[in-house]
Amino acid sequence: MALKITVIGTGYLGATHAAAMAELGFEVLGLDVVPEKIDMLSAGRVPMYEPGLEDLLRRHVAGIEGSTGRLRFTTSWEEVADFGDVHFVCVNTPQKHGEYGCDMRYVDAAFSSLAPHLRRPALVVGKSTVPVGSAERLARLLADLAPVGADAELAWNPEFLREGFAVQDTLHPDRIVVGLESAAAEKLLREVYATPMEEGSPFVVTDFPTAELVKTAANSFLATKISFINAMAEVCEAAGGDVVKLAEAIGYDERIGAKFLRAGIGFGGGCLPKDIRAFMARAGELGADQALTFLREIDSINMRRRGQMVGMAREALGDGTFLGKRVAVLGATFKPNSDDVRDSPALNVAGQIHLQGGQVTVYDPKGMDNARRLFPTLAYADTALDAVRGADVVLHLTEWNEFRELDPAVLGEVAASRVILDGRNALDAERWREAGWTFRAMGRPRA
Ligand code: UDX
Repeated sequence: MALKITVIGTGYLGATHAAAMAELGFEVLGLDVVPEKIDMLSAGRVPMYEPGLEDLLRRHVAGIEGSTGRLRFTTSWEEVADFGDVHFVCVNTPQKHGEYGCDMRYVDAAFSSLAPHLRRPALVVGKSTVPVGSAERLARLLADLAPVGADAELAWNPEFLREGFAVQDTLHPDRIVVGLESAAAEKLLREVYATPMEEGSPFVVTDFPTAELVKTAANSFLATKISFINAMAEVCEAAGGDVVKLAEAIGYDERIGAKFLRAGIGFGGGCLPKDIRAFMARAGELGADQALTFLREIDSINMRRRGQMVGMAREALGDGTFLGKRVAVLGATFKPNSDDVRDSPALNVAGQIHLQGGQVTVYDPKGMDNARRLFPTLAYADTALDAVRGADVVLHLTEWNEFRELDPAVLGEVAASRVILDGRNALDAERWREAGWTFRAMGRPRA
């Protein structure tokens, strides 16, 4: 009989994982403690913008016309415990308020709520990004609380999905990493991931700490690549070099690789910034803090880029002040194809300029609602054209396709002055210059 799967926590990761498991052919029950989320998902609606996710969900949610009916949602721990052979824990692990460490309260609550109902053998699989050592602690908690005792087993299976590509990354992962302690757990997880494995996804079996570390190490490496190229951008700015050419040229070396070398205002979002900080905090607890001191530099290079963008904008305005100046900000989300504004470099830059007296108007194709909630004091426009109307300087801060396709001539007619700064190195400088704009980009020479 086919395995029955539950997914605990239906945020970004959980909603995608639940729909993907149904797509792979399993019966799936998703749980969330927020009833409104369950109502929305049960009606086939996704509470965030993620390309392809709503379609995938609607293909499987029970009660939707034409669906397979393999996917349902509930708020009942008892129902989930009775239903599942494999329980995936997908709750979030944000940064602790005011400190670097990782807030484990949702993971702990999920395990403590599920375990006392486990009356039949089950594999509980952690997917959340956690400090190394958590799995070992949670395995003990499970053994202590589950009525079925040792027949409730733990495995750790970190998730590497990127926002904007969540469906593709979940159905066709680069690799599947599992930390486990028994052959039975490995057999179950090989069954769960049989389809992506047949399609070529490597399956890496290891122990708990290594599985936990793979995730934080991967994100630290990605953050390092971005801060490396941003450090090179700073040197290019000082020396008159071109970081875009430099990135292209070093990227041809296969050992370096061309990806994740786009210089600009740096990384943000709900993962990279908090993961490198939590990793440093955990290494400190383990007495290995020296190993990760470089991550502090990665973080500060990244945060510095935001300030540098603000400085570039101030300089572009000529008289060294934002007072009485109108600034158009194109982009609010931390990256394109997402409505996520968590730790968004774009909004951070917009907020800094606002605090320094500039009149900032923001436009983003998908992130407006979330941005308005986070920064209610900024002004928002319904289109890029409206944001640019009357602007003394335009800042391009999130590289949506919509912004690449803007017509510089049309925007030039409504802007108060034709000055644009590209904080993502994604616009075609020549097109803008031909239309009479002063175009500057981070880490690139002035024309
Ligand atoms: C990241 C990891 O990529 C993913 O594997 C992990 O599971 C979760 O964290 P995500 O946060 O969705 O995914 O975004 P990602 O595509 O990694 O981009 C992160 C940030 O880096 C964005 O703000 C993006 O604009 C920035 N970035 C990325 C750059 O500044 N330059 C680059 O070259 C690439």
